[in-house]
Amino acid sequence: MKVQVLPSLLAADFGCLADEIRRVAASGADALHLDIMDAHFVPNLSFGPDMVALAKKTSPELWRDVHLMMTRPDQFIGRFIDAGAQALQIHVEADCDIWAGLRAIRARGVRAGLVVRPQTPVAALWPYLPLCDEVLFMTVNPGYGGQAFMSEILPKISDLRKHAGGIGLGALDIMVDGGINFETAALCAAQGANMYVAGSFLFKQTDMAAAVQRMRGLCEEQLPGLRSE
Ligand code: DX5
Ligand code: ZN
Repeated sequence: MKVQVLPSLLAADFGCLADEIRRVAASGADALHLDIMDAHFVPNLSFGPDMVALAKKTSPELWRDVHLMMTRPDQFIGRFIDAGAQALQIHVEADCDIWAGLRAIRARGVRAGLVVRPQTPVAALWPYLPLCDEVLFMTVNPGYGGQAFMSEILPKISDLRKHAGGIGLGALDIMVDGGINFETAALCAAQGANMYVAGSFLFKQTDMAAAVQRMRGLCEEQLPGLRSE
Protein backbone atom coordinates (compact mmCIF):
# COMPACT_ATOMS: atom_id res chain seq x y z
CA MET A 1 0.00 0.00 0.00
CA LYS A 2 1.30 3.39 -1.04
CA VAL A 3 0.08 6.96 -0.67
CA GLN A 4 -0.97 8.12 -4.16
CA VAL A 5 -2.32 11.33 -5.67
CA LEU A 6 -4.39 11.09 -8.88
CA PRO A 7 -5.42 14.25 -10.75
CA SER A 8 -8.78 13.84 -12.52
CA LEU A 9 -8.70 14.85 -16.19
CA LEU A 10 -12.33 15.99 -15.98
CA ALA A 11 -11.09 19.30 -14.57
CA ALA A 12 -8.52 19.87 -17.34
CA ASP A 13 -8.73 22.56 -20.02
CA PHE A 14 -10.32 20.57 -22.87
CA GLY A 15 -8.90 23.06 -25.35
CA CYS A 16 -5.42 21.65 -24.83
CA LEU A 17 -5.84 18.14 -23.51
CA ALA A 18 -2.49 16.74 -24.58
CA ASP A 19 -0.70 19.61 -22.78
CA GLU A 20 -2.83 18.99 -19.70
CA ILE A 21 -1.94 15.27 -19.73
CA ARG A 22 1.74 16.25 -19.98
CA ARG A 23 1.26 18.66 -17.07
CA VAL A 24 -0.02 15.79 -14.92
CA ALA A 25 2.87 13.56 -15.97
CA ALA A 26 5.38 16.32 -15.16
CA SER A 27 3.79 16.96 -11.76
CA GLY A 28 5.01 13.66 -10.35
CA ALA A 29 1.42 12.50 -9.74
CA ASP A 30 1.03 8.74 -9.33
CA ALA A 31 -1.64 8.32 -12.01
CA LEU A 32 -4.14 10.08 -14.24
CA HIS A 33 -7.78 9.51 -13.24
CA LEU A 34 -10.21 9.37 -16.18
CA ASP A 35 -13.95 9.71 -15.46
CA ILE A 36 -16.26 7.94 -17.89
CA MET A 37 -19.93 9.03 -17.72
CA ASP A 38 -22.74 7.50 -19.77
CA ALA A 39 -25.62 10.00 -19.18
CA HIS A 40 -27.62 7.14 -17.64
CA PHE A 41 -25.83 6.00 -14.51
CA VAL A 42 -25.02 9.67 -13.85
CA PRO A 43 -26.71 12.75 -15.38
CA ASN A 44 -23.70 13.77 -17.45
CA LEU A 45 -21.55 12.69 -20.41
CA SER A 46 -17.80 12.91 -20.47
CA PHE A 47 -15.60 10.92 -22.87
CA GLY A 48 -14.84 7.38 -23.95
CA PRO A 49 -11.99 4.99 -24.73
CA ASP A 50 -10.39 7.43 -27.20
CA MET A 51 -9.44 9.68 -24.29
CA VAL A 52 -7.65 6.78 -22.59
CA ALA A 53 -5.83 6.13 -25.86
CA LEU A 54 -4.85 9.81 -26.06
CA ALA A 55 -3.41 9.65 -22.54
CA LYS A 56 -1.43 6.53 -23.46
CA LYS A 57 -0.11 8.11 -26.65
CA THR A 58 0.73 11.44 -25.00
CA SER A 59 2.39 10.25 -21.77
CA PRO A 60 2.77 6.46 -21.92
CA GLU A 61 4.60 6.35 -18.58
CA LEU A 62 1.68 7.95 -16.69
CA TRP A 63 -0.52 5.27 -15.07
CA ARG A 64 -4.11 5.30 -16.38
CA ASP A 65 -6.83 4.82 -13.75
CA VAL A 66 -10.29 4.62 -15.33
CA HIS A 67 -13.52 5.16 -13.37
CA LEU A 68 -16.59 3.81 -15.18
CA MET A 69 -19.76 5.65 -14.11
CA MET A 70 -21.87 3.47 -16.37
CA THR A 71 -25.04 1.40 -15.97
CA ARG A 72 -23.49 -1.40 -18.06
CA PRO A 73 -19.73 -1.18 -17.55
CA ASP A 74 -19.43 -4.87 -18.43
CA GLN A 75 -20.08 -4.02 -22.10
CA PHE A 76 -17.07 -1.69 -22.22
CA ILE A 77 -14.41 -3.43 -20.14
CA GLY A 78 -12.61 -4.84 -23.16
CA ARG A 79 -12.67 -1.57 -25.08
CA PHE A 80 -11.21 0.46 -22.21
CA ILE A 81 -8.48 -2.10 -21.62
CA ASP A 82 -7.67 -2.19 -25.34
CA ALA A 83 -7.37 1.62 -25.20
CA GLY A 84 -4.83 1.44 -22.37
CA ALA A 85 -6.63 1.36 -18.99
CA GLN A 86 -4.32 -0.06 -16.31
CA ALA A 87 -6.84 0.10 -13.47
CA LEU A 88 -10.57 -0.14 -14.17
CA GLN A 89 -13.27 0.61 -11.62
CA ILE A 90 -16.93 -0.35 -11.83
CA HIS A 91 -19.70 0.75 -9.48
CA VAL A 92 -21.21 -1.75 -7.06
CA GLU A 93 -24.61 -0.21 -8.02
CA ALA A 94 -24.14 -0.99 -11.76
CA ASP A 95 -26.72 -3.13 -13.53
CA CYS A 96 -24.46 -6.09 -14.29
CA ASP A 97 -22.87 -9.15 -12.71
CA ILE A 98 -20.28 -7.52 -10.46
CA TRP A 99 -18.39 -10.77 -9.89
CA ALA A 100 -18.06 -11.38 -13.60
CA GLY A 101 -17.03 -7.77 -14.22
CA LEU A 102 -14.23 -7.82 -11.64
CA ARG A 103 -13.03 -11.21 -12.90
CA ALA A 104 -13.04 -9.99 -16.51
CA ILE A 105 -10.87 -7.01 -15.55
CA ARG A 106 -8.38 -9.15 -13.64
CA ALA A 107 -8.30 -11.75 -16.40
CA ARG A 108 -6.75 -9.09 -18.64
CA GLY A 109 -4.02 -8.35 -16.09
CA VAL A 110 -5.59 -5.00 -15.13
CA ARG A 111 -6.22 -3.81 -11.56
CA ALA A 112 -9.88 -4.26 -10.63
CA GLY A 113 -11.67 -1.63 -8.58
CA LEU A 114 -15.12 -1.30 -7.08
CA VAL A 115 -16.75 2.09 -6.48
CA VAL A 116 -19.48 2.95 -4.00
CA ARG A 117 -21.84 5.93 -4.16
CA PRO A 118 -22.36 8.04 -1.04
CA GLN A 119 -25.84 6.61 -0.33
CA THR A 120 -24.88 2.93 -0.64
CA PRO A 121 -24.12 1.06 2.62
CA VAL A 122 -20.47 0.07 2.89
CA ALA A 123 -21.47 -3.53 3.60
CA ALA A 124 -22.55 -3.81 -0.06
CA LEU A 125 -18.81 -4.13 -0.80
CA TRP A 126 -18.09 -7.03 1.56
CA PRO A 127 -18.85 -9.97 -0.75
CA TYR A 128 -16.63 -8.62 -3.53
CA LEU A 129 -13.51 -7.61 -1.60
CA PRO A 130 -11.48 -10.73 -2.45
CA LEU A 131 -11.79 -9.76 -6.14
CA CYS A 132 -10.82 -6.10 -5.62
CA ASP A 133 -7.39 -4.52 -5.90
CA GLU A 134 -8.83 -1.18 -4.88
CA VAL A 135 -12.06 0.31 -3.53
CA LEU A 136 -13.15 3.85 -4.40
CA PHE A 137 -15.43 5.85 -2.12
CA MET A 138 -17.31 8.64 -3.86
CA THR A 139 -17.16 11.62 -1.52
CA VAL A 140 -19.62 13.58 -3.70
CA ASN A 141 -22.59 12.41 -5.77
CA PRO A 142 -20.94 11.18 -8.97
CA GLY A 143 -21.49 13.10 -12.20
CA TYR A 144 -19.71 16.44 -11.85
CA GLY A 145 -16.45 17.90 -10.69
CA GLY A 146 -16.23 20.86 -8.36
CA GLN A 147 -18.70 19.69 -5.70
CA ALA A 148 -18.32 19.93 -1.92
CA PHE A 149 -16.82 16.99 0.01
CA MET A 150 -19.34 14.91 2.02
CA SER A 151 -17.82 14.33 5.45
CA GLU A 152 -20.43 11.69 6.32
CA ILE A 153 -18.39 9.25 4.20
CA LEU A 154 -15.44 9.35 6.63
CA PRO A 155 -16.69 6.64 9.05
CA LYS A 156 -17.31 4.31 6.08
CA ILE A 157 -13.64 4.51 5.15
CA SER A 158 -12.53 3.35 8.59
CA ASP A 159 -15.24 0.64 8.57
CA LEU A 160 -13.78 -0.74 5.33
CA ARG A 161 -10.18 -0.46 6.53
CA LYS A 162 -11.07 -2.44 9.69
CA HIS A 163 -13.16 -5.01 7.84
CA ALA A 164 -10.49 -5.56 5.18
CA GLY A 165 -7.83 -6.01 7.85
CA GLY A 166 -10.01 -8.60 9.58
CA ILE A 167 -10.24 -10.77 6.45
CA GLY A 168 -6.55 -10.65 5.57
CA LEU A 169 -6.78 -7.75 3.10
CA GLY A 170 -4.93 -5.18 5.17
CA ALA A 171 -3.07 -3.90 2.10
CA LEU A 172 -6.25 -3.10 0.12
CA ASP A 173 -5.95 0.24 -1.66
CA ILE A 174 -8.72 2.61 -0.59
CA MET A 175 -9.39 5.65 -2.78
CA VAL A 176 -11.51 8.74 -2.34
CA ASP A 177 -12.92 10.89 -5.13
CA GLY A 178 -14.82 14.18 -5.00
CA GLY A 179 -14.15 17.49 -3.28
CA ILE A 180 -10.60 16.47 -2.41
CA ASN A 181 -8.15 19.21 -1.36
CA PHE A 182 -5.33 19.32 1.22
CA GLU A 183 -7.73 19.36 4.15
CA THR A 184 -10.22 16.71 2.99
CA ALA A 185 -7.46 14.40 1.72
CA ALA A 186 -5.85 14.46 5.16
CA LEU A 187 -9.21 13.72 6.81
CA CYS A 188 -9.62 10.67 4.55
CA ALA A 189 -6.05 9.55 5.21
CA ALA A 190 -6.70 9.62 8.95
CA GLN A 191 -9.52 7.09 8.37
CA GLY A 192 -7.34 4.78 6.29
CA ALA A 193 -7.66 5.97 2.66
CA ASN A 194 -4.34 5.92 0.78
CA MET A 195 -5.27 7.13 -2.75
CA TYR A 196 -6.69 10.59 -3.43
CA VAL A 197 -8.38 11.68 -6.67
CA ALA A 198 -8.53 15.45 -7.07
CA GLY A 199 -9.83 17.31 -10.11
CA SER A 200 -10.60 20.99 -9.73
CA PHE A 201 -8.28 21.52 -6.78
CA LEU A 202 -5.16 20.25 -8.56
CA PHE A 203 -5.89 21.63 -12.03
CA LYS A 204 -6.42 25.15 -10.72
CA GLN A 205 -2.93 25.16 -9.16
CA THR A 206 -0.25 27.14 -10.96
CA ASP A 207 2.31 24.66 -9.58
CA MET A 208 0.65 21.24 -9.76
CA ALA A 209 3.87 19.46 -8.79
CA ALA A 210 4.13 21.36 -5.50
CA ALA A 211 0.47 20.64 -4.71
CA VAL A 212 0.84 16.92 -5.46
CA GLN A 213 3.90 16.73 -3.24
CA ARG A 214 2.19 18.64 -0.43
CA MET A 215 -0.95 16.49 -0.57
CA ARG A 216 1.15 13.34 -0.45
CA GLY A 217 3.15 14.64 2.50
CA LEU A 218 0.09 15.72 4.48
CA CYS A 219 -1.55 12.33 3.94
CA GLU A 220 1.58 10.39 4.86
CA GLU A 221 1.59 12.22 8.18
CA GLN A 222 -1.92 10.89 8.79
CA LEU A 223 -1.05 7.33 7.80
CA PRO A 224 1.85 6.36 10.05
CA GLY A 225 3.99 3.61 8.65
CA LEU A 226 3.13 4.43 5.03
CA ARG A 227 5.50 6.12 2.63
CA SER A 228 5.11 7.02 -1.03
CA GLU A 229 8.35 5.27 -1.98
C1 DX5 B 1 -17.06 12.96 -10.14
C2 DX5 B 1 -15.78 12.31 -10.61
C3 DX5 B 1 -14.56 12.89 -10.02
C4 DX5 B 1 -14.36 14.35 -10.30
C5 DX5 B 1 -13.76 14.96 -9.07
O1 DX5 B 1 -18.16 12.24 -10.55
O2 DX5 B 1 -15.77 10.92 -10.30
O3 DX5 B 1 -13.38 12.15 -10.35
O4 DX5 B 1 -13.51 14.60 -11.39
O5 DX5 B 1 -13.70 16.32 -9.24
P1 DX5 B 1 -13.40 17.30 -8.03
O6 DX5 B 1 -12.06 16.92 -7.47
O7 DX5 B 1 -13.41 18.64 -8.68
O8 DX5 B 1 -14.48 17.12 -7.00
ZN1 ZN C 1 -13.78 9.72 -10.61
